[in-house]
Amino acid sequence: MKNIDRLFLVGFMGAGKSSLGEKLAKSLSLRFIDLDVWIEKKTKKSISEIFADEGEEAFRLIEKDALLSFKNESKIVIATGGGCASFEDNMQWMNEHGTSVYISCSPGVLFHRIAPEKKKRPLIAKMDDVDIMEYIQEKLAERNKYYLKANVVVDGDGEVEDVVVKILIGLKK
Ligand code: S3P
Repeated sequence: MKNIDRLFLVGFMGAGKSSLGEKLAKSLSLRFIDLDVWIEKKTKKSISEIFADEGEEAFRLIEKDALLSFKNESKIVIATGGGCASFEDNMQWMNEHGTSVYISCSPGVLFHRIAPEKKKRPLIAKMDDVDIMEYIQEKLAERNKYYLKANVVVDGDGEVEDVVVKILIGLKK
């Protein structure tokens, strides 16, 4: 049985970290935090505004600070943004301070989930479909090195309810 006091969900944009995290938290009676939403509340800016005004590097530092601020919080599920795990030592920190779960999805599934709502996602907002698909393939290959360090890896291509069950099974092992 894994330690479920502090769970971190990692994975690419469109992996379903937020909806899965909410359901998972409910079934384990834990609090749920979406790191992007938390950052937006703290900074009083949308993620897109932070990227536009301060740039990606500044966002990564804000994101890291936000992540580390949960060091002493327990009974919590934290859905991290897609780029959080691959910045500096964030992935190692998550593994040292809780249990990490990678929601692994295929590029095709990610494309169908994120392309229709690209406006909300500053990294792909101005891309056409071909560029988005290429971006997913390249970034996923790059980030998988980090994501795959997670304590639990589940296939996230299916329905939310099924993926939640897979996570619960992974946490029991
Ligand atoms: C990002 C993913 C987003 C958000 C930001 C950057 C990324 O979070 O943090 O737009 O680098 O992949 P979601 O994975 O929740 O969409």
